[in-house]
Amino acid sequence: MKLSRIVSNQNGVSRKRANALIATGRVSVNDEVCREAQQDVSEFCAVSVDGNVIQQARPSRYLMLNKPAGYLSATVDDLHPTVLELIDSTLHDDLHIGGRLDRASTGLLILTNDGNWSRRLTEPEIKIPKVYRVTTEHPITPETHRRFEAGIWFEYEQLTTSPAQIEEINECEARVTIYEGRYHQVKRMFHAVGNRITSLHRERMGSIQLNDELTVGQYRSLTAEEIASV
Ligand code: URA
Repeated sequence: MKLSRIVSNQNGVSRKRANALIATGRVSVNDEVCREAQQDVSEFCAVSVDGNVIQQARPSRYLMLNKPAGYLSATVDDLHPTVLELIDSTLHDDLHIGGRLDRASTGLLILTNDGNWSRRLTEPEIKIPKVYRVTTEHPITPETHRRFEAGIWFEYEQLTTSPAQIEEINECEARVTIYEGRYHQVKRMFHAVGNRITSLHRERMGSIQLNDELTVGQYRSLTAEEIASV
């Protein structure tokens, strides 16, 4: 929300008066004077006028989970256990998933209560690389490399996927890098070339890498550096 709106949301403060308070240096955001009335200020920032807090900073949360197979990337479900059940309930408040994994898929799953941040991580237009280790039913052919690099046509969305890279580990195992993160994207890309994924494990999103020390089902907070990298 714009700073002038936050200040004028106080009882009896007009937008004009709010702008004057800001321009004269009486308004602080996270303890620093801010003179920009049009500055976007999130709910995770504290705002004060003359030292009196008018908006408390909401605690932000950024977690990485080593997702086990069998858990749904959802917050509630009647049938299957959800990844939220693996997270301490004191941290649940408004947590959502930044880039789902299918129930059978494993590895890096990010949960946060910061919607602007998770949008930057997952929006197909922003093209953050997502790296998956996959095993396939049939050998990965040179034609698969070529088709992935050229982009695969998705009829439902009426679009061609961004060029994706395959780094082969052995004939039925590879690291695949994609840049969007559309519904079942990796599975659908292999399906389009007549192959099938038998396991899929996410290792990395941008520069956020699944930690070796996180055992399956464990989670930790992201570091300040990881958060700032998005
Ligand atoms: N692509 C898939 O097909 N499945 C996932 O879980 C993630 C990416």
